[in-house]
Amino acid sequence: MSTEIVQTAASIVSAGGMAHAIRADAANESDVITFVTACADRFGGVDGIYANAGVSGGRKPLTELTVEDWQHTLGVNTVGVFLAIKHTVPHFTRQGSGAIVCTASVAGLRANAGGIDYSASKVGVISIVQTTAYQLYGSGVRINAICPGLIETGMTRPAFERARERGTSNRIGQINPLKRHGEPHEIAEMACFLLSDRASYVNGQAIAVDGGLSASHPWVFPR
Ligand SMILES: NC(=O)c1ccc[n+]([C@@H]2O[C@H](COP(=O)([O-])OP(=O)(O)OC[C@H]3O[C@@H](n4cnc5c(N)ncnc54)[C@H](O)[C@@H]3O)[C@@H](O)[C@H]2O)c1
Repeated sequence: MSTEIVQTAASIVSAGGMAHAIRADAANESDVITFVTACADRFGGVDGIYANAGVSGGRKPLTELTVEDWQHTLGVNTVGVFLAIKHTVPHFTRQGSGAIVCTASVAGLRANAGGIDYSASKVGVISIVQTTAYQLYGSGVRINAICPGLIETGMTRPAFERARERGTSNRIGQINPLKRHGEPHEIAEMACFLLSDRASYVNGQAIAVDGGLSASHPWVFPR
């Protein structure tokens, strides 16, 4: 198991929370069953799930994209979300409550924030969320998607590093009205809100956390 996961779990526990690290492939059904069951056994139930694992697909041009690339990106990004929902919903419906949060992307709202495979996968996540909200009609279970804009993480680090090397990092994130990229904790805040009872009437939504990027039609950068 990666030391990063173990350290993250340890830091949650030392801050007074509860955590248990498990290595699992989000797109593998038996792995998902194993970690959902382990969570239920260890913590006495499942109250919520955050289906956040994803891959970028590498932003290949259309003519270079292979079927294998497509299946890998859609496999992790949509099958992973589907399995997380499928195997936690029975726990939620039994107890009459539960919250599901899935990470989509601004790439699922508009073109040009990823390759075709990535964008299709994130449109898929939004559709899974909206459709599931109605499949869970009357169950008391809520489901929402977060659509992050540009956030500095492992996925985007190469682009940030290239910009730093070229001395152009001050241009990153300039096309949204906050004129900056986002930080992971700004997505985590939304996830925590949506998983909590504070979001008790928020359901079936794809909420952009993107500095305002997706609010606009194309526009000309002011000089
Ligand atoms: N960084 C951004 O700008 C941005 C923007 C929009 C959406 N997103 C989405 O945010 C989510 C988190 O990505 P991130 O930006 O933190 O990137 P990241 O690469 O740092 O994190 C993604 C995580 O998913 C895990 N993962 C990938 N495939 C997996 C699999 N099959 N099983 C289990 N885990 C797997 C990776 O190990 C990694 O820890 C993703 O769904 C991504 O598409 C990111």
